[in-house]
Amino acid sequence: MRGLKIRMEYSVKGITFTKDELELVKLSDIDANSVPPCHIFTFIQERPFLLLRAGDFVEEEFLVKYKRKGIQSFYCLNIASEKESQKYKTIFSKFNNAKNEIQRRRVKDELVKIFADDYWKQSDKSFLSFVSACFDQFYNLPEDVVVSLQESSLVLYSRALLTSSFSVMNCVMHSILDTNFISDLYNASFMMDYSLGGRKEFNFLLSIACEKERNAPGSGIEFLKARNDASKELLEFTEHPNLSAELALEHSNCFYNPETVDFIRYHHEKADGSGFPGGHTYGAISETETILMFGDNITPFEEHIFQNYDGALLVKEGLSKLKKLTIQNKLPLNTTLSLWEEAMKWGVAVEERKQGEVA
Ligand SMILES: [Fe+2]
Repeated sequence: MRGLKIRMEYSVKGITFTKDELELVKLSDIDANSVPPCHIFTFIQERPFLLLRAGDFVEEEFLVKYKRKGIQSFYCLNIASEKESQKYKTIFSKFNNAKNEIQRRRVKDELVKIFADDYWKQSDKSFLSFVSACFDQFYNLPEDVVVSLQESSLVLYSRALLTSSFSVMNCVMHSILDTNFISDLYNASFMMDYSLGGRKEFNFLLSIACEKERNAPGSGIEFLKARNDASKELLEFTEHPNLSAELALEHSNCFYNPETVDFIRYHHEKADGSGFPGGHTYGAISETETILMFGDNITPFEEHIFQNYDGALLVKEGLSKLKKLTIQNKLPLNTTLSLWEEAMKWGVAVEERKQGEVA
């Protein structure tokens, strides 16, 4: 058996890894108020303990607690890499530094190309790189909002991260390139379902109604109506766009344009007026007011556990499923879908042409 190297494999809460795959990271190198691109472990007597999963919010308190215990470093298992995340952060800072509209449009092209390459052409990249960069760049709400959402429901928390990140890219697709406005839509997306959990536990009946509604509008409401013990949930569900908008308005000082909070009120309206709570038709809702709907409808109503290959699943497959939902459910997203499809095709083609030229 000489020369045989035994590599101990660990499995912690469904995460399987060997110690070789872990990276030792100093506590001081982990940012508070961030969404790290890795699972974070500590070892006690050679046994690994999962402290945070990739995508969990890192509270200041968490770092202080371990610092007080004298812990100098953690073991990290990368899902996305810091380098990948930094790539998107650099693009966002280019938007901030752009001096005029022409420069902003060039940055848009650059971002579309990178995004298409990572999440359309390739199938081995994690969406967490983009999610982590978006949170770092655009999250402006108090810490309490993200912490309470995470504590109330991991479904609502992971959806908030995903839908908000999709809203950033959806702004870019619609050539909304003002970073203050993008930031407002990021934070509005983050809070669009906040009233369902946030300050309280996310009710089981409501979670069922939400996913039913996403797949077949009207069926979530029908499900609650059919029960004789769900009158409270029915009211909470039908009014959640207004209730969440009211809660977001409590943080209006975090928005550059507080009126964008009102977009939350329309995220369940439909093209033919069969949506809720207002029953407005697409004709009564502007294209900009549909920005949040895209992220909401492309993201399943389930807890998302970030994986190192989930980018294409969320973006490319998500878009293909959303196309069916849009037709089936009369979602006012036809323009949005065309913009995404054309941009992704263009982004991939440009990259291929470049490679061809080099060869
Ligand atoms: Fe909603």
